[in-house]
Amino acid sequence: MADHHHQNHGLKQAQQVVVVMVPFPAQGHLNQLLQLSRLVSSYNIPVHYVSSATHNRQAKLRVHGWNPLAVANVHFHESPTPSFLSPLPNPNSSIPFPSHLQPAFDASLHLREPVATLLRTLSPTAGRLIVIHDSLMSSVAQDVVSIPNAEFTKFINSQHDYMKFDSGRLYNTCQVMEGPYLDLLAREEMSRKKKQWAFGPFNPVTISDNKKSNHRHKCLKWLDKQGENSVICVSFGTTTSLTNEQIKELAVGLEQSRQKFIWVLRDADKGDVFAGEERRVELPKGYEERVKGKGIVVRDWAPQLEILGHPSTGGFMSHCGWNSCVESLSMGVPIAAWPMHSDQPNNTVLITKLLKVGLVVKDWARRDELVTSLMVEKDVKKLMASKEGDEVRRRAADLGGAIRRSVAEGGQSRMELDSFIIHITR
Ligand SMILES: *[C@@H]1O[C@H](CO)[C@@H](O)[C@H](O)[C@H]1NC(C)=O
Ligand SMILES: *[C@@H]1O[C@H](CO)[C@@H](O)[C@H](O)[C@H]1NC(C)=O
Repeated sequence: MADHHHQNHGLKQAQQVVVVMVPFPAQGHLNQLLQLSRLVSSYNIPVHYVSSATHNRQAKLRVHGWNPLAVANVHFHESPTPSFLSPLPNPNSSIPFPSHLQPAFDASLHLREPVATLLRTLSPTAGRLIVIHDSLMSSVAQDVVSIPNAEFTKFINSQHDYMKFDSGRLYNTCQVMEGPYLDLLAREEMSRKKKQWAFGPFNPVTISDNKKSNHRHKCLKWLDKQGENSVICVSFGTTTSLTNEQIKELAVGLEQSRQKFIWVLRDADKGDVFAGEERRVELPKGYEERVKGKGIVVRDWAPQLEILGHPSTGGFMSHCGWNSCVESLSMGVPIAAWPMHSDQPNNTVLITKLLKVGLVVKDWARRDELVTSLMVEKDVKKLMASKEGDEVRRRAADLGGAIRRSVAEGGQSRMELDSFIIHITR
């Protein structure tokens, strides 16, 4: 199926409009605005993506499903940021929020000056500057108001809202995923005379996975040899570090489920993902030998979107971060939900109770308790090898189809994207 990126939309080609992206420097946030850059640039609109050197490098290196270096009109600007501490995450912390990232978040406030400078540089040659900033970067983007031809468009990641003079809001979701809630938000926005667009998923929904490429990750080659819907992918994103004890329970539970798995075993990102050492968790003795043929453990950056898009993948055990939810739903893969913090418990409710395309592994009411190997075993079996699991998988596949139709030519998400582009190029 055709996808946003490959279309020549034939709308007014507005070279005079220039878009500046101001992402928040954490993986899930960097990724969403980079994916959005791909969508906007496919309309022949130049996009300027501005962050620190290390975060630009991180975003480009980790993006899935397309190559930002091959898109000529996405420009990266490396702004100087003061050096910041980049401590290791603490897997034993009683609070699962990744507070070790705070120094990197604090340092991002220093992007205000470089962003203002970039805007002043671009302004004289642009008809209109559109600034799309993460809702957590409002203060960094605030100088937009001093530039006559610049306009704000806020990208909402969470309900932070102290910036009242944005002209509209963008959401990485769509009607088929969250229709009733978007309608409620739209009513609220209308009363404030603000615009809103929801044209997610921002990520590509079809992957051209070249089986002959030498650069394919080993887990994709392994997936090629497995049966359809037979593998569960296990991964908890970039802001979670499990305790040694929890990792052991998970390891045993996966093994005892006797289901096939790809387990991405990583700690939370550090503020600077390229700096220093990482914790290497020891698995039970002989574990990887024992599960050989059944499962593989990946400790590097895994191509999650490609894994989820692979026909052999039939389930996803996930923390339910928003990027992961959107990727899984757009690939039609059901979720075994294990929320950790922030919006993840809420996303779990959407996935399991409202859309009914997943089941709960970790009940939020019991968030301080260990998830035992027995619970892992039971839930993996339920999702991958039961009638109930097949039902959930069927609903997820249906929803995935609806999402892919929505972003294709003539679909609702595509029409909202077109309407956003018409708005900024008016
Ligand atoms: C976490 O606690 C475990 C058990 O108490 C200990 O062995 C481990 O070294 C601790 N890890 C860190 C990073 O503090
Ligand atoms: C999650 O939902 C509750 C209401 O059920 C709400 O109060 C809270 O703000 C939400 N949290 C996030 C991070 O969206």
